[in-house]
Amino acid sequence: MQKITATKSQKMLFPRKINIFVDLFCGGGDVSINTRASHIYANDINYHVIDIMKTIQSMPITEVLKYIDDTIRRWNLSKDSKENYLHFRDYYNSSNRNPLDLYVLMCYSFNFQFRFNSKHEFNNPFGQNRSHFSANMRSNLVAFSQQIKDIVFSSLDFREFDFSFLKNGDMVYADPPYLLSCGSYNDGKRGFRGWTVDDDLKLMEILQRLHERGVHFALSNVVEHKGSRHHFLENWVERNRFVMHDIGVDYNNCNYQNKNKNAVTREVVVTNYLET
Ligand SMILES: C[S@@+](CC[C@H](N)C(=O)[O-])C[C@H]1O[C@@H](n2cnc3c(N)ncnc32)[C@H](O)[C@@H]1O
Repeated sequence: MQKITATKSQKMLFPRKINIFVDLFCGGGDVSINTRASHIYANDINYHVIDIMKTIQSMPITEVLKYIDDTIRRWNLSKDSKENYLHFRDYYNSSNRNPLDLYVLMCYSFNFQFRFNSKHEFNNPFGQNRSHFSANMRSNLVAFSQQIKDIVFSSLDFREFDFSFLKNGDMVYADPPYLLSCGSYNDGKRGFRGWTVDDDLKLMEILQRLHERGVHFALSNVVEHKGSRHHFLENWVERNRFVMHDIGVDYNNCNYQNKNKNAVTREVVVTNYLET
């Protein structure tokens, strides 16, 4: 919910005309709100974040803002009051966990992240001297509430998502945790299990079945990371004649002249279509 624009490359890679769009691993919804389609479905297993979006969607924005302002006042939250933040965080973890309280906590937390321990307790530290519900966040939230108004949210494991209603002209975007680079989403400490080879294989099987039914897909991934390669993804793409688009190579702070192969991260988007 922080960034509000999808990357240019993603936008350019999606088909120009999409009927139903499914954002299967939607995270904070950035891609969904930046994609034009007749109907948008956004799913993520992280129900904490999905519940925030559903709550914002279900209330007039004036009420959402009033709740946030009242909560900030009630707990005396500010960017330099760590103690108040920790009190509020304890309260949240021991209460019935209002999704808007979680949104407020995120606003005052380190790097504005949603972090949970294995007991599903929010455990992100305080964003000392930086994080607060700024005027910019307020206006982004107002815009966001408009942008998500017609999105259908769900918080399912991707295996449980019902793809049966999708047809030719529809599109599934998959941005799962990346097996190789093991992003912060799958550190196993968030109360959500990590991402495994089996998950990647299952996802590839689902995408292949969608392809056979004429549904478009785009899959974001990392095929090379610090000396490791995602061989079975590369083979799958080649075998099925899917298209692998290079999105960017990160040399992880390496000197440009002295590129160390072991430091390279190569990001790609795989699509089952050429023309957009
Ligand atoms: C790379 S992030 C997606 C980021 C998203 N595109 C955005 O713009 O915020 C991967 C997401 O996959 C979700 N996820 C992990 N395992 C999942 C599963 N089994 N089913 C559905 N979502 C899952 C995580 O909660 C995380 O939000």
